[in-house]
Amino acid sequence: MLKKPDPMVVATKLLARKKFKDTGKQFNMIAASWIQFMIHDWIDHMEETQQIELVAPKQVANQCPLKSFKFYKTKEVPTGFWEIKSGTLNIRTPWCAIYGSNEKRLHKVRTFNDGKLRISEDGLLLLDQDGTAVSGDVRNSWAGVSIMQALFIKEHNAVCDTLKREYRNLGDEELYRHARLVTSAVIAKVHTIDWTVELLKTDTLLAGMRANWYGLLGKSFKDKFGHVGGAILGGVVGLKKPENHGVPYSLTEEFVSVYRMHSLLPDHLQLRDISAAPGSHKSPPSAEKIPLPSLIGRVGEKTSSGIGFIKLMVSMGHQASGALEPWNYPMWLRDLVAQDVEGMDRPDHVDLAALEVYRDRERNVARYNEFRRGLLMIPISKWEDLTDDQEVIEALQEVYGDEVEELDLLVGLMAEKKITGFAISETAFIIFLVMATRRLESDRFFTSNFNEETYTKKGFEWVKTTESLKDVLDRHYPEMTAKWMNSASAFSVWDSPPPSPNLIPLLFRVPK
Ligand code: HEM
Repeated sequence: MLKKPDPMVVATKLLARKKFKDTGKQFNMIAASWIQFMIHDWIDHMEETQQIELVAPKQVANQCPLKSFKFYKTKEVPTGFWEIKSGTLNIRTPWCAIYGSNEKRLHKVRTFNDGKLRISEDGLLLLDQDGTAVSGDVRNSWAGVSIMQALFIKEHNAVCDTLKREYRNLGDEELYRHARLVTSAVIAKVHTIDWTVELLKTDTLLAGMRANWYGLLGKSFKDKFGHVGGAILGGVVGLKKPENHGVPYSLTEEFVSVYRMHSLLPDHLQLRDISAAPGSHKSPPSAEKIPLPSLIGRVGEKTSSGIGFIKLMVSMGHQASGALEPWNYPMWLRDLVAQDVEGMDRPDHVDLAALEVYRDRERNVARYNEFRRGLLMIPISKWEDLTDDQEVIEALQEVYGDEVEELDLLVGLMAEKKITGFAISETAFIIFLVMATRRLESDRFFTSNFNEETYTKKGFEWVKTTESLKDVLDRHYPEMTAKWMNSASAFSVWDSPPPSPNLIPLLFRVPK
């Protein structure tokens, strides 16, 4: 079952990019980088030392950049539960993307002075002697993720300054710990009420995600009276105690699978000339194009230093990300130098598209139809139930015949007809919704300890008054956002118009 149909065939016939498709104005390269920044905060599977090899079958070999490739098997461990007997291990710890998942890395990123983290004078990440970035997580990273990390290191350091001014008796360790709490809460909040809302641009979702954080009673009520009522009225954040639903906290394999979004990545980063005057809707003129592979890892850090933080951010803000559709998986990821946990290049190149198909199967993630049944969604009985695109239907037929039960999850998620306003499939959305809520409600720092005593009065105020990535950018780069950002959200393409005001209160709007 692991090789049926062959992952290299699936990757070649249904995933590999033919012509780049973008998301229009909805989602930009900052949004694509943000979600990778989050993945680097949440998950990375532990591997075995034993390698596996995939070989391209004859029928597709001449279309595969790699005729064969080797990678490490996912490590399987006994869970100790009676129902699900084995599972996998996560080598990342929660809220680690700028702090690191172990003591060694944490030591590397801290200054041990006033609670602060290390950052370069030019606002980018510092580089080690070997050229790797000094940051919480550097594996399989690129300039987009590095500038997110650099921005939130600045945020952390700014929280330290504020807390030090307010509470003179706090030492390095206390300042560091409180600033880490505040910064992590800001990251979680941006993800919940800003990024997710832009990905699924509908009023219903906006209302739903804001209700997760603020409850149906809304922000003004919560700011004034604190958390009142249960999760529905007052929101998940600030609940009196964490809720684990009787299962120890974990991220599910399904959660990992729906975030397989490598098609968000384009082939080039279109740099902008920020020395020119802004054009219409604050758009900067185009300058040179940089191939994405030259922005990865150590080479990427070097390229970024030559470009600079503001030019990188403005360029990413003005460029649309790739669409999550069939035939939009970057070809350059089909011949990729993968890295180890220290960010060092591995000798074996991988075909990431084929590897992802294999990984879901290896980790026992259900195929598309079974996955939907598990979510109480209607399965498909023919390809026409999945998509109206005749060309895609023909390709599905060629790879899977009439065996709709064999459809791989990743292919199904890309091919599924999208709800208007959604950049992702409805199938993925259900997982998002369940897990986004779980991540908040099972964390004591968002429930029983979401208060002034734990965060400090100033720190708590910082979280309450930061609503979006734009707020964070405005705080550290006010001139950049004023000059180059026309959009309301930092995650939509920056020359798009802010939405026209809607006088109907959010909860009373009729879904389109
Ligand atoms: C230059 C950019 C990127 C590179 C070089 C890269 C590379 C990789 C590599 C080598 C793996 C491990 C594959 C394996 O052994 O199973 C991986 C896993 C993954 N990537 Fe990316 N990736 C990039 C961007 C992204 C983006 C934009 C997303 C969007 C959400 C993403 C989501 C994931 C997920 C969910 C996994 C699975 C993690 C796990 O198995 O624990 N990546 N990526």
